[in-house]
Amino acid sequence: MASGKKAAGVRDQYEAYPYPPRDPADEATRLITGSPSDIVEIEHYVCGRKLTEDRLYRVLVAGGGTGDATIMLASQLAARGIAAEIIYLDLSSASLDIARARAAARRLENITFIQASLYELPERDLGKFDYIDCCGVLHHLPDPVAGLQILAAALQPEGGIGLMVYGRLGRTGVYEAQDLLRLMVGDLPDPERVETAHALLEDLPPTNWLLRNSNIGDHRNAGDAGIYDLLLHRQDRAYSVPDIFSLAADAGLRITGFVEPARYDPCNYLQDAALRKKVTALLWPEQCAAAELVCGNLKVHICYLVPAGTTRETPLTPESPIAVPMLKNVSGEALAGRLRGAPALSLDFDGTKIRLTLPKMAVEITAQIDGERSVAEIRKRLGKGGHRLSKSAFSRQFNDLYKALNGMNAMFLR
Ligand SMILES: C[S@@+](CC[C@H](N)C(=O)[O-])C[C@H]1O[C@@H](n2cnc3c(N)ncnc32)[C@H](O)[C@@H]1O
Repeated sequence: MASGKKAAGVRDQYEAYPYPPRDPADEATRLITGSPSDIVEIEHYVCGRKLTEDRLYRVLVAGGGTGDATIMLASQLAARGIAAEIIYLDLSSASLDIARARAAARRLENITFIQASLYELPERDLGKFDYIDCCGVLHHLPDPVAGLQILAAALQPEGGIGLMVYGRLGRTGVYEAQDLLRLMVGDLPDPERVETAHALLEDLPPTNWLLRNSNIGDHRNAGDAGIYDLLLHRQDRAYSVPDIFSLAADAGLRITGFVEPARYDPCNYLQDAALRKKVTALLWPEQCAAAELVCGNLKVHICYLVPAGTTRETPLTPESPIAVPMLKNVSGEALAGRLRGAPALSLDFDGTKIRLTLPKMAVEITAQIDGERSVAEIRKRLGKGGHRLSKSAFSRQFNDLYKALNGMNAMFLR
């Protein structure tokens, strides 16, 4: 299909089937949160410091869709009293209308809604941004590298990007089903394309790879918009871990972390000591690539990117005494209560069971985390409370706790 026709098809798709489907009335009962772009993740992976109210924080949501990241970020920044200017950009007026109605339902007033392509950013003169969210968009662009380069050029030197792109291996079955449908639907109008996809899904044998991939669910639980986005998209590519490192480098960016980190550590999936030793010897990008190949179920990749030349240390390391640990949506006391008596955290990552070992003092250390105390202060308080630990013994305990809790996306440092 010629590229102009393809681009028009993508625009028409999101006008007819805004994705993900959202009802502004639901804002009265719940706030959708997630990755990328949760404010504590931005502090950890992008700026390495607490976002404060001392200056206007500028955010671009590039391909904002029906508004999830826009609404989450605007709400979180407002709850912290941080003055912000948020620019929502999307090709689709239908998606924009839903996002705008959601913002109105929450009385969020600091959002500017613009219907445009992110390729138009250079001419639009919207200024530079502290943070850019680009979730589920780049893999639908005709030239993702050019798209990411444009976003990188719109960053403040201290800024960063939260990115989500599809994972190739974890989407096994999706591209095969897309190929199959392409043979059947050709240039049919949208309603017939969707009808054909419904019929096909009912008729597939159990050996079909889409049916065998139980982690893929949009065709089952996101209505016609989900079916279209998953199976009938005209422009859809997916990435392996090495592809993402190349994409970042081509845009002059550096990856500061993947979410959840534990998914990208091959040791979490392997028991054999010799194999674990081999993967531990690899460089971090290779370890992430190995993890993807071992587990096989990373259907998306969520990561944070900063300009490659930046010297700021993000994320901070747990060895840094000035680092302030933060938890997501839970107090230190409450989490400590949940960890009591548990030697390890048992997690189910989309069918893969992993176990993250907790250090002996997990409960005591976690109870001291209040989002303000530094690692050094926590050690001092434990000392005063009668826990005599040398600096290095405490550091080992804290590192192990951080590895487990950060691994599951629950603890961050700023
Ligand atoms: C799969 S949706 C993701 C929406 C949102 N980011 C989210 O995560 O919920 C992809 C969105 O990208 C938008 N889009 C596609 N190409 C675009 C472009 N060149 N510029 C701006 N938006 C684009 C579509 O209109 C659609 O709303």
